[in-house]
Amino acid sequence: MKPVVAPFPAARFRRARKSAAMRALVRENALSVSDLIWPIFVRDGDNIEEPVASMPGVSRRSVDRIAQAAREAADLGIPAICLFPYIDASLKTADCAGAWDPDNLVNRAIRAIKDTVPEIAVMTDVALDPYNINGHDGFVVDGEIINDATVDALVKMTLAQAEAGADIIGPSDMMDGRIKAMRTALESEGHQNVLILSYAAKYASAFYGPFRDAVGATAALSGDKNTYQMDPANSNEALRLIERDLNEGADMVMIKPGMPYLDICRQVKDSFGAPTFAYQVSGEYAMIKAAAQNGWIDGERVMLESLMAFRRAGCDGVLTYFAMDVARAING
Ligand code: PBG
Repeated sequence: MKPVVAPFPAARFRRARKSAAMRALVRENALSVSDLIWPIFVRDGDNIEEPVASMPGVSRRSVDRIAQAAREAADLGIPAICLFPYIDASLKTADCAGAWDPDNLVNRAIRAIKDTVPEIAVMTDVALDPYNINGHDGFVVDGEIINDATVDALVKMTLAQAEAGADIIGPSDMMDGRIKAMRTALESEGHQNVLILSYAAKYASAFYGPFRDAVGATAALSGDKNTYQMDPANSNEALRLIERDLNEGADMVMIKPGMPYLDICRQVKDSFGAPTFAYQVSGEYAMIKAAAQNGWIDGERVMLESLMAFRRAGCDGVLTYFAMDVARAING
């Protein structure tokens, strides 16, 4: 497409900006509640809603409160919710067996949501880090995060979540070969209609800091995730990963973090046209919240602007901790 621009004064761009009505008519992108996936943290206990210090406005909820939150989200029109477990340090192990326990926190939360709010889509996270004594997404053997044995464990975790009723499986581990293994297992175990939203281009990012606090993985993590998550300097690799995961059976793909990687979002959408999501991660959320709390920025406007940026960059939707606030703002 070649934009045509008449010379001034035939072209005056300000004509189309002169009123709210004109701006609405020529607006190129829209943010709607149906673009949102709300990530929430689940913990043990009853009737508990405990604030996460590094993420103002975000809390960890017990399963009963998760079901209630899902009800509120569905009532606001949010199509999907994504579950992350906060696992007590004493329950983390080297074999990560909690990850595929059919009665673990996440699987109980899935069932509770499906019982009470069947219309909302439930997404899960597949990676070993919440259950792992050393905080890594895969098994650690002699200091190495080993790939293939981890994939076997991730498949067990996937099947347990699908069995509990998960609609969308979200592998965030960045092991090689996991999408194919998960898709094959889902097909052969009768879960043909379970979607995979692959965290295909997931960078080794410092923006995940507050999340690791929220899931209690900060203290546990030994070392960094640089041998499996992507180098922030790379973009060709992101396209190769996305293509690989689509070929292995991913239904949708994700770029993570979000706002610092909008160039990747645009390239992915233009290259493959697949359903493309971005994750506005914990550090992005915390920065906006902290600046707003200090009165340095208008929190609501920055929130909406940041999310519109994802739409402009080609994303179909965004995982954001702001989901409920955005939905309320849009619904008025
Ligand atoms: C773990 C996982 C992480 C996030 C989602 N799943 C953190 C990590 O990789 O260390 C980050 C989410 C956020 O920062 O909001 N596999």
